[in-house]
Amino acid sequence: VKKIILDCDPGHDDAIAMLLAHGNPNIELLAVTTVVGNQTLEKVTRNALAVARIANITGVPFAAGSARPLIRQIEIAPDIHGDSGLDGPVLPEPAFDVDSRHAVDLIIETIMSHPPKTVTIVPTAGLTNIALAARLEPRIVERVKEVVLMGGGYHVGNWSAVAEFNIKIDPEAAHIVFNEKWPLTMVGLDLTHQALATPEVVEKIKAVGTNPAKFVLELLEFFGTMYKSAQGFDYPPVHDPCAVAYVIDPSVMTTQKVPIDIELTGTLTLGMTVADFRSPPPADCHTQVAVKLDHQRFWDLIVDALERIGEV
Ligand code: BDR
Ligand code: CA
Repeated sequence: VKKIILDCDPGHDDAIAMLLAHGNPNIELLAVTTVVGNQTLEKVTRNALAVARIANITGVPFAAGSARPLIRQIEIAPDIHGDSGLDGPVLPEPAFDVDSRHAVDLIIETIMSHPPKTVTIVPTAGLTNIALAARLEPRIVERVKEVVLMGGGYHVGNWSAVAEFNIKIDPEAAHIVFNEKWPLTMVGLDLTHQALATPEVVEKIKAVGTNPAKFVLELLEFFGTMYKSAQGFDYPPVHDPCAVAYVIDPSVMTTQKVPIDIELTGTLTLGMTVADFRSPPPADCHTQVAVKLDHQRFWDLIVDALERIGEV
């Protein structure tokens, strides 16, 4: 069983990542932490608690983190996620409150209280909390098993021609996280644009027939409409659960070891994840990128998680 901390900004695909992590038997969800991103910290935190209620996630601490990026002004994504950050379904009132700790403290305490190399950090949002945690308690860098994040793209952007949202909204934080020497897997747009919720996928989720499955269908419907009008996609790319799927079963995608750094000064390329494919990676290369997704097996994991969550 893989122990993870999910750091997220729900967000339609973040919500599905939560459901996958909760429903999959190979994952133990140690904590859910939130950060400003798709919407304000207040909204995404409320959304995370609503998802917990929908899937009956209990006994897991949820903590709110950074309300703004390290240096830049806040940028949110209502054109993709709506005014609430999770538009589409009607959201229930949360069944419990957030932990009293700041997300950054919860992340550090969780990692330091578990044996070395047993906790994986899974960020599916801007990297503000993770960067602050690495600065506040540098020993977490040695102690974590790995970081598996959704963000970036080695050949494609969505928040600019070459930069992806989670990296672009806090590039300085991303720079910190990519330059710390922990093993880091970048599940970027190159991979997640293969994770399309096609009509066949929607049919399979429909067949599950439970309330949590209905919630996912409502998310996908809204997400699909927004992705069509904002970015011209026929079917929405469901980014964030791809990072969770990699932790569950790395063979669900192929990866390639390659040095990656974050552009901080480019006038056209701010927040670009610059991956250097020129030669075999250096021996001390600690970063890799996800390349090719097994679409069928990825969506089977989501359907399986929903079946296990069952009726709530
Ligand atoms: C990423 O940006 C957010 O809007 C999504 O939740 C995902 O994490 C995709 O670029
Ligand atoms: Ca996200």
